[in-house]
Amino acid sequence: MKKGCFITFEGADGCGKTTQSKLVQEYLEKSGYEVIWTREPGAKGLGQKIRELLLHYDGDVAPMCEAFLFLADRAQHIEHLIKPAVNAGKIVICDRHTDSTIAYQGYGRGEDIQQLKYLNNLATGDIKPDLTFVFDVSTEVAQKRVGSEKDRMESAGLEFHKKVRQGYLEIARHEPERVKVIDANNDIDKVFEDTKKVLQSFLDLI
Ligand code: TYD
Repeated sequence: MKKGCFITFEGADGCGKTTQSKLVQEYLEKSGYEVIWTREPGAKGLGQKIRELLLHYDGDVAPMCEAFLFLADRAQHIEHLIKPAVNAGKIVICDRHTDSTIAYQGYGRGEDIQQLKYLNNLATGDIKPDLTFVFDVSTEVAQKRVGSEKDRMESAGLEFHKKVRQGYLEIARHEPERVKVIDANNDIDKVFEDTKKVLQSFLDLI
């Protein structure tokens, strides 16, 4: 592999993507790749302050304010972490990225999806993930996994999370080359086996 690449992990709250992204990181490192694991919102520095606002502010938040905060975090993240790491030949694993904005603010909150796509491109300077995993799990199972201590986004209700789930499936339907859906209703080992298969075919091609 001559240049680095950018892989994102997506799915509704409680889908298990963070666990899978860490397993993938370990697997790739053991295979000799240099890997950076990161996340949105709030990878580091200013992003962490934005994350605090997004997840724990307890007053009213206008939907487009919410969207712009996620986008502001993304612009900072791309410029200060993702772009330099990919250019240095590393594999960047990112727990949530642009598709979260489309699924949550677009399909979930009902903001205009074309506009959000445009704003995503503006925030990322048109850098796109080379591969995206969507971990799909029934909303009821996902909500049980989240438990009772919920942050602002997790408290948005069952109907909202159902729309988010459908949103991810729509995204995957529109971009089947980039976005791969993994059935995350299974146990961790089986989900990881399925993830590794997709990952290996991707790595064989680059
Ligand atoms: P986090 O604690 O990181 O949750 P998870 O472990 O599920 O990733 O919280 C991030 C929350 O922010 C999550 O509910 C999804 C939401 N989110 C958006 O609504 N839009 C976005 O663009 C991003 C990146 C996240």
